[in-house]
Amino acid sequence: MKYDPGFEKSPLPFAPFKSLTVPRPIGWLSSVSKDGVENIAPYSQWQNLTFDPPMVMFAANQYPDGRRKDTVINAEETGWFVWNMATWDLREAVNISAMALPPGDSEFDRLNVTKKKADLSDTPMVAESPFHFECRYLSTHRIPGNSTVGSIDVVYATVERIHLDENCLTPDGRIDIPKAKPIARMGYYDYTVVTDTFEMKVPSSDADEMAGLAGQPA
Ligand SMILES: Cc1cc2nc3c(=O)[nH]c(=O)nc-3n(C[C@H](O)[C@H](O)[C@H](O)COP(=O)(O)O)c2cc1C
Repeated sequence: MKYDPGFEKSPLPFAPFKSLTVPRPIGWLSSVSKDGVENIAPYSQWQNLTFDPPMVMFAANQYPDGRRKDTVINAEETGWFVWNMATWDLREAVNISAMALPPGDSEFDRLNVTKKKADLSDTPMVAESPFHFECRYLSTHRIPGNSTVGSIDVVYATVERIHLDENCLTPDGRIDIPKAKPIARMGYYDYTVVTDTFEMKVPSSDADEMAGLAGQPA
């Protein structure tokens, strides 16, 4: 079975594309409007771009009526947003935060989480989340899709400050992922949770390349 998604309907009852780009880390992104309305929403079209300097991106689909997502507007207007790690313990809050509310209403009012302010801007962060990136807005790349919803704002940002909960570090100073239990998006209504990791080293004698994979400073 095969098909060309640009021209043909999916041969399956549910389009397979999103179910094949898995697992997708979740950008649980908090922001604030220029009028002070606090906002938080999950974005699974979210990634790191590079590490020197650390940069991230997310892609926001427009609403069916053509409105752009509040997270994008807030990032553009204030210059900041925060990534909060979405964890197993916070999964219900992550889900509720995806509700589409009018721009004047804050998703935070519906979540059972503690807010704390970021250091570098007025952006709220989820205190219970073990890791945060304070992200400085860089630019937006608008890409038209085949439909209003398919059209995206790709937002680029640099990571200016990283917050680390020391309870979620291993004794040798690594991020304790099985302890933090990040959740990630699959297809359909499915998610996965990272509780297992395994180690592999590239059979290479290049010490610099190995150090880069391990995250050691150059
Ligand atoms: C797990 C999850 C991942 C999501 N990923 C995206 C995404 O990558 N892009 C997007 O436009 N919407 C995504 N959504 C939907 C948004 O979270 C939703 O439209 C939200 O209301 C946007 O809020 P905002 O307008 O306050 O930014 C996702 C929803 C869930 C539950």
